[in-house]
Parts: sequence; C-alpha cells; structure tokens
Amino acid sequence: MAAPGGGGSCFVLGASGATGQALLKELCAQRPFSRVTVIGRRQMSLPEGCGVAVEQAVVDFERLGEHADAFRGHDVGFCCLGTTRSKAGADGFVRVDRDYVAQAAELARAGGCKHFVLQSSQGANERSNFLYLRVKGEVEKLVEAVGFDRCTILRPAVLLCARQEFRPAEWITQRVLGFGARFFPTAYSVPVETVARAMVACVVQPSGEKVEVLENKAIHQLGKAVPQLGT
Ligand SMILES: NC(=O)c1ccc[n+]([C@@H]2O[C@H](COP(=O)([O-])OP(=O)(O)OC[C@H]3O[C@@H](n4cnc5c(N)ncnc54)[C@H](OP(=O)(O)O)[C@@H]3O)[C@@H](O)[C@H]2O)c1
Repeated sequence: MAAPGGGGSCFVLGASGATGQALLKELCAQRPFSRVTVIGRRQMSLPEGCGVAVEQAVVDFERLGEHADAFRGHDVGFCCLGTTRSKAGADGFVRVDRDYVAQAAELARAGGCKHFVLQSSQGANERSNFLYLRVKGEVEKLVEAVGFDRCTILRPAVLLCARQEFRPAEWITQRVLGFGARFFPTAYSVPVETVARAMVACVVQPSGEKVEVLENKAIHQLGKAVPQLGT
C-alpha cells in the first residue's frame, strides 16, 4: 500500500490518454508516490514543480522485453492503455488492449511491482461474443494470473472526457449519457477525473482481497471519497 504523502514509486501506462492524463494530474496533486514513471511509445510533456519526480521511458511495445528496466523498482503499476478497433483494426486492438497490457504486467511483476491497477471496462467478459468485451475479459484474467500481491481492476462505463481527437460514436454517446447522468449519475458513465481519483484512492486504502473488481458505481464512490493527501 502506498504511504499517503510518502515515498515509493509507480509507473503509468497510457499517461498520454484521456484517463492517463487525469491520473497523472491526480498523482501530482495527491502525491502518494515521490517518483512516477510514465511509460509510453512517444515523448510527452510532463508536469513540473509539483513535488513529484516525474520521469519518462519511451519504449517500443513490440519489443517490450527489451525495456525491462523501465518496469523495475516500482511499487504500483497503473494501466490506462488502450486503442480502438476503428483506429487499429481488430488485430491491432487485441495486440494493444490484451497483449501489450499482459506483457507489461509480467515485466512489472518481474521488476518487483506489488500492486497492479488495470483500467478495464464495464461488461468485460472473456466469454462475450463482442470482441471489445471479450478482450477486456481476457486481459483481466491474464493480469490476475500474473500473481501480484494485489490486483485492482476498474470497470468504468462510458468515459466522460474532453478529447482532442474526434470519435463520432463516442461523442454522441457522451452527449446522451452526459445528460442521462443527471438522473442516473453512477449507472452508464463516469468522468475520467473520477476514474483517476478512484485509481489513486485504491492504492492508499488497504484491501483484504488479492484481486478486487470495481464496477462503475464503486468507482464513483471511491473517486468521490478520495482524501487530500498532498496537502
Ligand atoms: N472510451 C470509453 O468510454 C471507455 C469505457 C470503458 C473503458 N475504456 C478503456 O479505458 C482505457 C483508457 O481509455 P482512454 O479513453 O482514457 O484511452 P485513450 O485516451 O484512447 O488513450 C490510450 C492510451 O494508450 C496508448 N496507446 C494507444 N495505442 C497504442 C499503441 N499502439 N502502442 C502504445 N500505446 C498506445 C495511447 O498512447 P498515444 O497517446 O501515444 O496514442 C494513450 O496513452 C482503455 O483501455 C479503454 O478501452 C474506455
């Protein structure tokens, strides 16, 4: 468990994405770790002067085994990695959302990581007929099987976020569910900031369970309840 306002180290996969960016902000604001390593495929601008040493490792995900160093010495690993079928094709989607994530988890465990926090999806199910949900179910099982001391799986519903890139289907869904959230705030959607706060909250709170699965409602509750650590 990360010490509130304490030392320790974590890494973040997918830090350039919508949830990853929110998570990085939260890690800098709450400061549960003194060192954060962003592991990604390209350079990104990093926050400065927040009291946290934020470092960057640029890796080739097709040769992840050659980047074992990036995964060494972290207490906690956060994974917000993912692509879409429309961007990467079906095979590319499976490669990123399942294979890259599972391989990263293996490297993290070998490097001493005790707690892995995986952003999955509402409805994840390895027996689903839908590719997206099946792959999410498969990656959950693969990560669980790695054998971390603790594994937290978050299953958010539709993410509410302001995205630079335009995804038409997501845009329409966000508009509809954003409106619906007034009536059913925890059922069908969740802001990325809430997911990020829940991710930070889960590492500072003890859990009796080796594997815990947080559904959308639990993410809302945890994301709301996070204490202010860095003050
Ligand atoms: N959208 C939703 O409503 C929703 C709902 C539930 C769960 N989820 C899941 O939540 C996770 C995070 O979603 P998000 O919308 O926050 O993600 P996002 O904004 O699409 O960001 C994805 C991250 O993955 C990285 N990535 C994508 N393709 C890659 C590749 N080929 N190689 C290496 N890195 C790659 C991106 O890096 P670059 O910046 O370099 O591209 C980025 O950092 C995903 O697994 C998604 O499936 C999404």
